[in-house]
Amino acid sequence: MTGYGAGKTDACDERGSIRIMAAMISKIASADEVFQANFQAYEKRIADLHERRRAAHRGGPERARKRHEERGMLLPRHRVEAVLDPGSPFLELGELAGGPMLYEGLPPGAGLITGIGLVSGRPCMIIANDATVKGGTYFGMTTKKHVRAQQYAWRHRLPCITFVNSGGAFLPEQPNIFPDYGQFGTIFHNQIGMSADNIPQIAVVMGACTAGGAYIPALSDEVVIVKGQGYMYLGGPELTFAATGEEVGQEELGGAEMHSRISGVTDHIVEDDMHAIALTREIVRNLGPAPQPRVKPLESIPPRHDPREIYGIISRDTKIPSDSREIVMRLVDDSHLHEFKQEYGDTLITGFARIHGHQVGILANDGVLFSESAVKATHFINLCCQRGIPLLFLADINGFMVGRSAEQGGICKDGAKMVTAMSSARVPKYCIVTGGSYGAGYFAMCGRPFEPTAMFAWPNGRMALMGPEQAASVLWQVKRQNLERDGIEFTKADEEALKAPIIEEYEIFQDAYNFAANLWIDGVIEPCETREVMGLMLDLAGRVPDPETRFGVYRF
Ligand code: COA
Repeated sequence: MTGYGAGKTDACDERGSIRIMAAMISKIASADEVFQANFQAYEKRIADLHERRRAAHRGGPERARKRHEERGMLLPRHRVEAVLDPGSPFLELGELAGGPMLYEGLPPGAGLITGIGLVSGRPCMIIANDATVKGGTYFGMTTKKHVRAQQYAWRHRLPCITFVNSGGAFLPEQPNIFPDYGQFGTIFHNQIGMSADNIPQIAVVMGACTAGGAYIPALSDEVVIVKGQGYMYLGGPELTFAATGEEVGQEELGGAEMHSRISGVTDHIVEDDMHAIALTREIVRNLGPAPQPRVKPLESIPPRHDPREIYGIISRDTKIPSDSREIVMRLVDDSHLHEFKQEYGDTLITGFARIHGHQVGILANDGVLFSESAVKATHFINLCCQRGIPLLFLADINGFMVGRSAEQGGICKDGAKMVTAMSSARVPKYCIVTGGSYGAGYFAMCGRPFEPTAMFAWPNGRMALMGPEQAASVLWQVKRQNLERDGIEFTKADEEALKAPIIEEYEIFQDAYNFAANLWIDGVIEPCETREVMGLMLDLAGRVPDPETRFGVYRF
C-alpha cells in the first residue's frame, strides 16, 4: 500500500517526550457523486437503527406500560436513567436482543435492560427487568443476556445493581431457561461467584418477584425493597393456596414490611422507586475502593478526518469492499496509526493507535487473508500481548485465500497460527464488524466463538459461513451432481427455484440485526459512536489486570 506515509511530524506527548505524529492522509473527495450517494444510503441505515432502538426502548405493550405506571412505579428505563449520574453516558449491551425476529409480537430487549453506567461516580453494571414484557419473566434470550452482562461485570469488577421486577421463568420456554449451563441457574451461580470475588451485588425489589425472580435478590449482598410495591416469594398467594391450601395475602407472604421486619430477607425498606434509587446511590458510595486506571490515558485528540465521512466511504453496494485505511483514520485519535509491517502482508492493516487517549492494537482487513497477512497478524498479536495492549479487530473479510498456490504455501498452518495467537491472547479483545465477515475470516477476526470482551457490528455488518449467492451456488452444485448421477434432467428454472429461498434465508441470517437479536453480538452501533463505545470499554479494561497470556503450540 502506498500513499499513506507520514503527513506531519511535530508534537510532544504530555510527558514531554518527542513522538512522531504520522497522521494518515485521506484520499476521499467528499463532493464526489459516489461518496454522496453512499452517504445518503447510509443515513437511511442510521435512521433504521434508531427506529429499532426506539422500538426496544418503548418496552411492552401500551396497556402493560399504563398498568405499570398506574401502580405508581417508574418504567424500567426511567429507573435506569434515574440511578445514573446526571448527564453521564449509559452503554447498553444487548439492546436489540430477542425481539420480533425471535419472539413474535415482543419488543426487542428480551424484557431486560443491561448496560454500564456511572452511579455515584463509579462504573456499575445495571440490570433491570422490564415487567411490562410478560411480567418481567425470563425467556431463553433473557437469561443469556443477563449472564452476558454478569460476565462483563465480573471481568471488569463492576458492581451489579439489579432492579428486580420479575415473575421468574417464562414457563413455555423451559428448555431454554432451566436445564443447561448459561441459563437461569447460571445467573445465581455467577452472583455467588462475583460476591466471593468481592464484586458487590445490590438488588432492589421494585415489583412482584416470584421464584427465580426472588432468588436474585436473595443471593445479593445488599437488598432494598419498596413498600406496598415490592414483593418476593418462591410462590405467590395463588400458588401457595394451590400447593398447601393456605390463604395468605401478598403483604404477609412477601411484602416489604414482612421481609424487612420478620424474615430478614431484605435490608432496607423504602417508600417508592425514587427513594429506592437514592438509597442505591448511597449504597454504591459505601462500597470499598473502586478499581483505578493502571496507566493514565493521554489526552483524547479527535480524528483529523470526520468520522461521519465513513457513511460515504462504505459502498451502498455490499459487494464493493471499503478502504479500511480510510475507516481507521476516522476512528483513532489524531488519525494517527503507527503502522506495523506496512509493506508486508498488506491485506491486513496492523498498527498501534489511541482511542480517547487509550492505547490499542488495531487489526483491520484490507482484502482476503493470505499467508503473509496471517503471519503478520500472529506477530502483531504477540507484540500486543507482550506489551499489555488491548486488541481491536475491524472485521471486513471474505475469508482466507484458497487455491493451489495458497495451499502449497501453507495457508492452513499460517491461518492456524493467526487463530492460535488471537484465541490465546488474554489482553482485552474487541471485534467490530465494519462490513462482511465470513467463514474462517469471521473466526480469525475474533468472532463470538473466541470470546471477545465485546463485539459489535455497524448497521451494514454481515456475518455468515459464506455469502448468500455462494451458499446457493454450492448447494446447487451438490443438487446438480445428484440429478446428473440419477439421470434426471433439469432446467435453469430448477436452478433458480432451488437458489431463491437459500439466498433469502442467508440474507436474513447474515443481517447484523439477526446477530443482535440472537446476542451473537452485543449490539449494533453507528460508525460515529464507535470511538465513544471503545473509549469507555478501554477505560474499564485499563482498570483491571489482564491474566497472563500463554500461547498454544504454533504450527510451523
Ligand atoms: N410464565 C409465562 N407467562 C407469564 C408468567 C410466567 N411465569 N408470569 C406472567 N406471565 C404472563 C401473563 O400470562 C401475562 O401475559 P399477557 O400479557 O399475554 O396477558 C403477562 O405475563 C403479564 O402478567 P400479569 O399477571 O397480567 O401481570 P401482573 O403484573 O399483574 O403480574 C406476575 C405479574 C409475574 C406477578 C404474575 O403474572 C405472576 O405471579 N406470575 C406467575 C409467576 C410464577 O409463578 N412464576 C414461577 C416461575 S417458576
